[in-house]
Amino acid sequence: MAYEYIKTTNEDGIGIITLNRPKILNALNLQLIDELVAELERLDRDPDIRVIVLAGNDKAFAAGADINEMAEASAIEIMKRDQFAVWDRMSLISKPIIGAVSGFVLGGGCELMMNCDIVIASETAVIGQPEIKLGVMPGAGGTQRLTRAVGMRKAMEMLLTGEPISAKEALRYGLVNRVVPVEAYFQEALKLAKQIAVQPPLAVQVIKKAVHKAEDLPLAEGMDYERNGFYLLLASEDRKEGMQAFLNKRKPRFTGN
Ligand code: CAA
Repeated sequence: MAYEYIKTTNEDGIGIITLNRPKILNALNLQLIDELVAELERLDRDPDIRVIVLAGNDKAFAAGADINEMAEASAIEIMKRDQFAVWDRMSLISKPIIGAVSGFVLGGGCELMMNCDIVIASETAVIGQPEIKLGVMPGAGGTQRLTRAVGMRKAMEMLLTGEPISAKEALRYGLVNRVVPVEAYFQEALKLAKQIAVQPPLAVQVIKKAVHKAEDLPLAEGMDYERNGFYLLLASEDRKEGMQAFLNKRKPRFTGN
């Protein structure tokens, strides 16, 4: 498929999507998000793809929503665009998404990062929600996901000042998984993706969903959800393969069945 604002490649069962509007720091216009979600959904359906890596470039993962598209539009026009509906589809992707972020990770860029399941950050990443400085607020999950990720007080500080935090501070608050030198963050994300890509795909997807449920459900309902997932996976071919391989002291070969 021909895209204008993203680039895509595959490597060993990993689908790699790179945001590609470098001149304006990967500002997220409507077309870019449409392309991104279309590609995520395509990769989610592709049986040869096990994990997705989402990256920008060293200077910017993404500096937020494209302000040019908002500056002159009326509230009603923006409401009619229903531009966040397409964002909501990102949370339905069943395969793991690993974010490889560097440089500016701001506004919609931070929200996009928070849509990833695991995040590897470069030491140069600056992460924040500066919408307040534009007289607005986040619209794609910034107040909700950031609060769940870093806690109420830190989220409040970041959202009300609009000041970004460093990658190291983000790591301390659990907003990213690892911080590595800028030369290494993409390869580190790819390495992690490959480690997950050899796991049984059904288990990967059921676990991903269960972990997300943990953020929303009361514990008893979450436990119930987990247990049903556990029983479901017992019916898979990969469960037989995994357990037989263990007993026979050999490496398992998972097929996704
Ligand atoms: N939208 C549109 N253009 C943007 C942009 C954005 N979010 N961020 C940067 N750009 C453009 C700049 O206008 C500039 O374009 P020109 O070369 O044509 O002038 C180019 O990218 C390079 O940017 P700067 O010259 O400003 O680079 P800098 O290194 O001096 O500053 C920056 C970098 C601190 C990221 C600064 O560009 C900036 O503050 N950007 C805006 C960040 C922001 O407010 N993001 C939130 C947007 S609202 C949102 O995301 C809502 C939501 O929840 C969905």
